[in-house]
Amino acid sequence: MDLNKTGHTVIDMQHMRILDWFEKLESIPAEKRFGPYASAVLEDLQVYIQEHFELEEGVMDECEFPDLDRHRHLHSQLSGQVVSFVDQYHQTGVVDQDQLIKLLRDWLIRHINQEDAKLAEFLEQQIH
Ligand SMILES: [Fe+2]
Ligand SMILES: [Fe+2]
Repeated sequence: MDLNKTGHTVIDMQHMRILDWFEKLESIPAEKRFGPYASAVLEDLQVYIQEHFELEEGVMDECEFPDLDRHRHLHSQLSGQVVSFVDQYHQTGVVDQDQLIKLLRDWLIRHINQEDAKLAEFLEQQIH
């Protein structure tokens, strides 16, 4: 799976890391899918996504990215969905891995490739 680059080194590194997590989740064998290993990966991912969103919003704030409020809202929707998967695991001991992977693929990867790409365009314009 390919990710577009924003041109911001740290943001791009973190996106690659998020993709690694995604691939890690996808590669969990079926018999371990709902166990503690899956939940550990999920919780790491939740913390990491949160840190990533904070950093990205900080960069956007610093460069006065005009679409920051909307972007922040998209982040909070997405992290809310990941949090609800973690809560679901704590309450039931089960995570719907297929749904989680679908969420990450459809939402997170699309967010990086379409929404974060707007930051890339903006940063590019600032330089020229
Ligand atoms: Fe991002
Ligand atoms: Fe973003």
